[in-house]
Amino acid sequence: MMITQPALKDRSLLGLKELSRDEIESILNRAAHWEAQKEKLVPVLESHFVANMFFENSTRTRFSFEMAEKRLGAQVLNFTAAASSVEKGESIYDTVRTLESMGIDAGVIRLKPSGVLQQLAQKVNVPLVNAGDGNNEHPTQALLDLYTMRKAFGELKGLRVSIIGDILHSRVARSNLWALQKFGADVRFCAPQTMQAPELAEHAPYVGLEEALDADVVMMLRVQLERHKHGLITSAEDYREHYGLTEERASRLKPSTIIMHPAPVNRNVEVDDAVVESAASRIFPQMANGVPIRMAVMERAMKL
Ligand code: CP
Repeated sequence: MMITQPALKDRSLLGLKELSRDEIESILNRAAHWEAQKEKLVPVLESHFVANMFFENSTRTRFSFEMAEKRLGAQVLNFTAAASSVEKGESIYDTVRTLESMGIDAGVIRLKPSGVLQQLAQKVNVPLVNAGDGNNEHPTQALLDLYTMRKAFGELKGLRVSIIGDILHSRVARSNLWALQKFGADVRFCAPQTMQAPELAEHAPYVGLEEALDADVVMMLRVQLERHKHGLITSAEDYREHYGLTEERASRLKPSTIIMHPAPVNRNVEVDDAVVESAASRIFPQMANGVPIRMAVMERAMKL
């Protein structure tokens, strides 16, 4: 399966809201191609240089981009804000321009604020791939989520997907919403009042937890305490009691329901330990699927 190769200026991946269903499908299909490869190293991006620029912490996204880039034979430069001149006050813009001046062919970037990446992409000439910007979008996470769902169910049309937890701060919820609706999935949200994003209510309904659990996909979200300006939850125990996927609640899911979480998981808060490790859980397969998805995305960004 060949990937549809966009014009150079369109090779950035800033979000899924603006990406067509055909483009998303093309990336998912190409990821399936990469997953099927027996060889770990297929150097189609030999002589290409990519900078992974993380201005916010990451384990999964950062390392799976690096794994994907190295499997395609790219030369990888890893930038971390804490060990850079950002500590001396250099801006995100000047940092990206600096790496661009040195000759990178693409940049992967994670940012704390929302709304900065679009402007940045207009000012530089290399493709930028969004590795998560504020609570705006996390497109490669949603792509790997769709890929995981498609592997489980064959197609996305008509799937009932409940996204449960800290919707307010979640770029994962937003990217999944935009992408899943393009494929005709039925998306619902479930969140405590303090973690609802009111502007999303016109796109998908907020339902109670019992209704949310009646779904094909139960996607739990991390409580993002680092983004909470003031205490939005009383305690971890209270959150688990009212919104956690406990063993008891998981035992009442349909046998075909799959459980997802973008991770890192606050075990025994959002999802009980035993549920994370259960047969219905796709949490570790999601991480595995991140590699072929990011191979497809980096190939789209850089291959001539
Ligand atoms: N899911 C995710 O984005 O994890 P990291 O923050 O570890 O990259």
